[in-house]
Amino acid sequence: MKNKNIIVVRNLIKCLDVESLRNPEVVANLARAFGIVQWGPISFGDDEVFKNTTVEMAGIYQTLIQIAEMLVYLTEFKINSYLEIGIFQGGNFLFVSEYLRRFNPDIKCTGIDPTIGQYLNDEVKAIIESELFLSVEPITSDNIAGSEFDFVFIDGDHTYAWANKDWENIGKNAKICGLHDIQGPVCPDIVRFWNELKTKGKPTVEFLKSTTAEPTKGIGIIHNAPIIEKKNVHLVMPFMREENKETLLNAYRPMNIILHPILFEKEYPLFSGVIENWIQPILIPPEAEKGPEGMEVQNIKRNWFIENCEIINGDYYVAVDDDDMYEPNVFDELKKMDAGVVIISMKRGDSIPDVTPIRQYPTYTLYAEPNSVFVGGISNQQSFVKGSVFKKYLYDANGHCADGRIAVTRKENGEEIAYRPDLYALFNYYEPGRWDINSLREVNSDKN
Ligand SMILES: C[S@@+](CC[C@H](N)C(=O)[O-])C[C@H]1O[C@@H](n2cnc3c(N)ncnc32)[C@H](O)[C@@H]1O
Repeated sequence: MKNKNIIVVRNLIKCLDVESLRNPEVVANLARAFGIVQWGPISFGDDEVFKNTTVEMAGIYQTLIQIAEMLVYLTEFKINSYLEIGIFQGGNFLFVSEYLRRFNPDIKCTGIDPTIGQYLNDEVKAIIESELFLSVEPITSDNIAGSEFDFVFIDGDHTYAWANKDWENIGKNAKICGLHDIQGPVCPDIVRFWNELKTKGKPTVEFLKSTTAEPTKGIGIIHNAPIIEKKNVHLVMPFMREENKETLLNAYRPMNIILHPILFEKEYPLFSGVIENWIQPILIPPEAEKGPEGMEVQNIKRNWFIENCEIINGDYYVAVDDDDMYEPNVFDELKKMDAGVVIISMKRGDSIPDVTPIRQYPTYTLYAEPNSVFVGGISNQQSFVKGSVFKKYLYDANGHCADGRIAVTRKENGEEIAYRPDLYALFNYYEPGRWDINSLREVNSDKN
């Protein structure tokens, strides 16, 4: 193994908490550990010491704080496809791809460079060949003109003619396009090209920090598509109904959500071996299984999640049970919302199943409106709560209906609430006897 810390850095990107990964200094340090290319003149300022010792070692050919700040900036957007034009040894391609994947589990990353056979580092090549989400091709943008990617990073031939070609072929079709070497005297063609791009009336961002005497490199980002910040929706789900597992996972899989099944030790094996990035099981330690007197078992789990798990301020969280479902448009609509709490309506099926009286919930629909926020008028599944708000409130131990009480408390404390009566949770959708076969079919066919 001739490279520095490629494997260690990949592992760190995979396991560091996202809060740390959103800190540009942390990302720059990961890049330092990975190594800078041993190539070209002195141009990395204070980071020159992190240059690799030989050209055989794969490195990143970027000013590290610039690429780090760009990556952190990109975490706000959904990026399911990445193209790097000009990958040289492949170091930056690997680093950027691995980083973006932490925030976009389904991403596919492609690197193109006509010199792949010559400069692509052997160890990087082996990693690329072993990973389905990574691929490289010895081609230029001429060969894939018109293709569409969420994010394209242009860093190939640095003449004006090629920068323009890469833009016309690919860059202008991308939702977000990055261009390298937009400042300093080294690449005057790129500086000129970027200055022209900036006048196209589209939002641009520049990452220019540099510790060299004269500013160098620099990254420009241009947004071709309207800027829509990415929000994830997290389902916080105390899990116990083993019989519902496969059905629930199959139903939620296409919905682009993050599922947190919350499990006691004896339930944990249900999810061992499940290795899908959108499923993030949470294990409650044995000593926390018994909560305070009077607290429902689901709320012990929910409170443990609120107090102990990483909660992202700008994402939405909903406390949902392991037999509930949502109409297919709910999560996409929520991602467009911005209120601290979004309350939606809830359909409750066709019949009341023959269960114990305390669980005999009626079938009439609960509509989302300010007057419905009272105990008995609103249920957990209806409140989508921004992480910054979700982490402020715990469920109480006064027995049944803590979900109504927590909704009332959020409202009484002045949290900003938006009502979406047009969106529906489907209460106890998988409870035997509650929903007619016909209405089940209706929802399923909506999904297709
Ligand atoms: C500055 S290096 C890329 C560095 C890499 N992006 C990084 O950050 O580590 C430029 C690369 O562009 C490649 N290249 C040259 N002409 C190209 C073209 N027309 N299309 C794609 N890549 C090209 C070169 O072979 C070289 O490997």
